Amino acid sequence: MSYNVAIMGATGAVGTEFLRLLDERKFPLKSLKLLASARSAGKEIEFQGKTLIVEELCEASFEGVDIVLASASGTLSKKFNPIAVAAGAVVVDNSSAYRMDPEVPLVVPEVNPEAIKDHKGIIANPNCSTIIMNVPVWPLHAANPIKRIVVSTYQAASGAGIAAMNELAAGAQAYLNGEDFTPEVLPHPAAFNVFNHNSPVGPNGYNEEEMKMVNETRKIFNAPDIQVTATCVRVPVMRAHSESINIQFTNPITEQEVRDLLADAPGIQIVDDRENSYFPMPLDADSEDDILVGRIRQDISQPDGCGIDLFVSGDQIRKGAALNAVQIAELL
Ligand code: A2P
Repeated sequence: MSYNVAIMGATGAVGTEFLRLLDERKFPLKSLKLLASARSAGKEIEFQGKTLIVEELCEASFEGVDIVLASASGTLSKKFNPIAVAAGAVVVDNSSAYRMDPEVPLVVPEVNPEAIKDHKGIIANPNCSTIIMNVPVWPLHAANPIKRIVVSTYQAASGAGIAAMNELAAGAQAYLNGEDFTPEVLPHPAAFNVFNHNSPVGPNGYNEEEMKMVNETRKIFNAPDIQVTATCVRVPVMRAHSESINIQFTNPITEQEVRDLLADAPGIQIVDDRENSYFPMPLDADSEDDILVGRIRQDISQPDGCGIDLFVSGDQIRKGAALNAVQIAELL
């Protein structure tokens, strides 16, 4: 069996990774359609020895398409996903538009693959920071239910697309040359700086990225009572996010138990060399499928033995976005 696949947003950071993954993972393709804006229409992209021509996304784009991998924008997903579903396709949607819709499964294949079967044409791919936290935290929660998570993120430019990655590089160059630089994609200079995640701050003082980590984790874990508080910031890293994760479990848990649970879990690599101070780093996670997990230690501020600290790095474009979506398509 092979499938007619379309990529919505094929020229973007995540779209480009979709192409790489479909090839690497030998996805059973009957055909592949590349969709982007009018700006990219006619652009040639090499794929598996063939030249594919990028087409402008329009209402007729989905005729005969079985699976759409969508990563253009929430607005475009809202407009085009229903059209694709009406044409008979299943959409794996990387935008935030449908994630909290109770009719739409929100899936991390390592956590809740069974949720896929309830789909009505759209399956949502979670937020990148949520995926990178959920993959290592889920096997721990399954063994010893989590009461509360305190997470701080260190997020790469890639989460804001190719334009933000280019802006980080250009800003770094300008800084080193002692030149003025005015950012246009991100709200503040990214190079040699750290700032609040570039999503709107709501009335409760949390930015949207932080609230995604809270609400999406509850939905994916099917754990409406789990308490999560997040602080999300951008750091001058190109494409892998890191996160400091503090967890309070229901029952006491040891560092060794955590290591044993993570050693057997899918999608994870333990990087935890205290002697050489070698732990997860975004440069090591760059372009990797696995989430790197380290700094595994008992939280000394929780004397009942119920607390654990972790530090993780995961490729935002790959497992945080494109790989997770392609894994969902494989499950389909
Ligand atoms: P294009 O390259 O033609 O602008 P990123 O997240 O890296 O910025 O990528 C966004 C993706 O969404 C790109 O493939 C981009 O195509 C696509 N896109 C942006 N606006 C539109 C639009 N109006 N119609 C179709 N695709 C769009």
